[in-house]
Amino acid sequence: MISINAPQIGEEEIEAVVKVLKSGILTHGLGAGPMVTKFEKKFAKFVKAKHAIAVNTGTAALHLAIAGAGVRPGDEVVLPSFTFVATAEVIAIAGAKPVFVDINPETYNISPEAIEKAVTKKTKAIMPVDLYGLPVDMQPIREIADKHELTIIEDSAQAHGATYKGKPVGAFADAACWSFYASKNMTTGEGGMITTNNNEIAEKLRFMRSHGEKEKYKSLMLGHNYHMPEIQAAIGCVQLGRLPKFLAKRRGNAKKLTEMLRKAKRLRLPKEPKGHEHSWYLYTVRLKNAKEKERDKIVEELRQKEIDAQVYYRYPVHLMPYYSTFGKYKLPETEKAAKQVFSLPVHPGITMEQINFIGETVLHVCG
Ligand SMILES: Cc1ncc(COP(=O)(O)O)c(C=O)c1O
Repeated sequence: MISINAPQIGEEEIEAVVKVLKSGILTHGLGAGPMVTKFEKKFAKFVKAKHAIAVNTGTAALHLAIAGAGVRPGDEVVLPSFTFVATAEVIAIAGAKPVFVDINPETYNISPEAIEKAVTKKTKAIMPVDLYGLPVDMQPIREIADKHELTIIEDSAQAHGATYKGKPVGAFADAACWSFYASKNMTTGEGGMITTNNNEIAEKLRFMRSHGEKEKYKSLMLGHNYHMPEIQAAIGCVQLGRLPKFLAKRRGNAKKLTEMLRKAKRLRLPKEPKGHEHSWYLYTVRLKNAKEKERDKIVEELRQKEIDAQVYYRYPVHLMPYYSTFGKYKLPETEKAAKQVFSLPVHPGITMEQINFIGETVLHVCG
């Protein structure tokens, strides 16, 4: 099977892990060991942010950012429903209400017009997501946030290397949250990071990731144990160094697929609007005017040919059993996209020969 994504681990990562093990420093009481600190500095530089705070998952990053923004019971947070559940989950954990809004059908990212309509007196924050690695259109969202004094927490979990208006994603947000889960453009196995240009947010989140402590055994605020282990940070430092090459390979694979699939009349190919540079975490196509069953049949045929086509996301969050308890939403573009999209592999481990095979097979299967 040509997998949809695969961690790219080499000798360098293995050596880095062994070095940490031999050093005897596996973690740090405040989650700020030497490797973690090094990784944070490197990552902050990569995304051109003032601060980076490493944590143990992308979900922990989102949770800290939401809690750090002061989101509490009674508050509302506006987000897309067409996302991985973690985006909504952390709002619910904070006791607040996720307010789901529709997407732009061209980009699959949250619609700024829909955000504006959903803002109420209770709205505290907006959580846009750079879905599939395509940067969300942040300028109008920043304007809405400034007008209503809202915090923007950007879910950049899929967008390492993506840029918006020439800047790494996250630049227009108050805080951006990243994931280093095994499938991501760069990985630490499990891991996460928050980046921000705001000194106060950064300081608060550093305390919160470690039981609310500035110094050991004296909690200033409610916190968690969200420490990233030193081994993970060591892997992250190596992966970050390799990331530009990974991204170039993904971009090349995506470009080739686009060239080949242009002939597929029934497919809408992924777009990169002007000023938006994709990270190509997922190469997602849409089977135009299709019913869910027809899309599923194509996905199944591709899988039978050993191509790991996948649907992200079949169940929009607002329709999931738990999340539907927050209210009834009608999100036609989200619900339509969930029935028509599927993603194809473009990860850096894929050869040109395999890309050719994927392209030809998709052309054959989609007629
Ligand atoms: C959009 C999005 N948000 C949040 C997460 C959560 O990250 P993690 O799995 O590292 O907790 C992921 C990835 O899994 C994701 O794709």
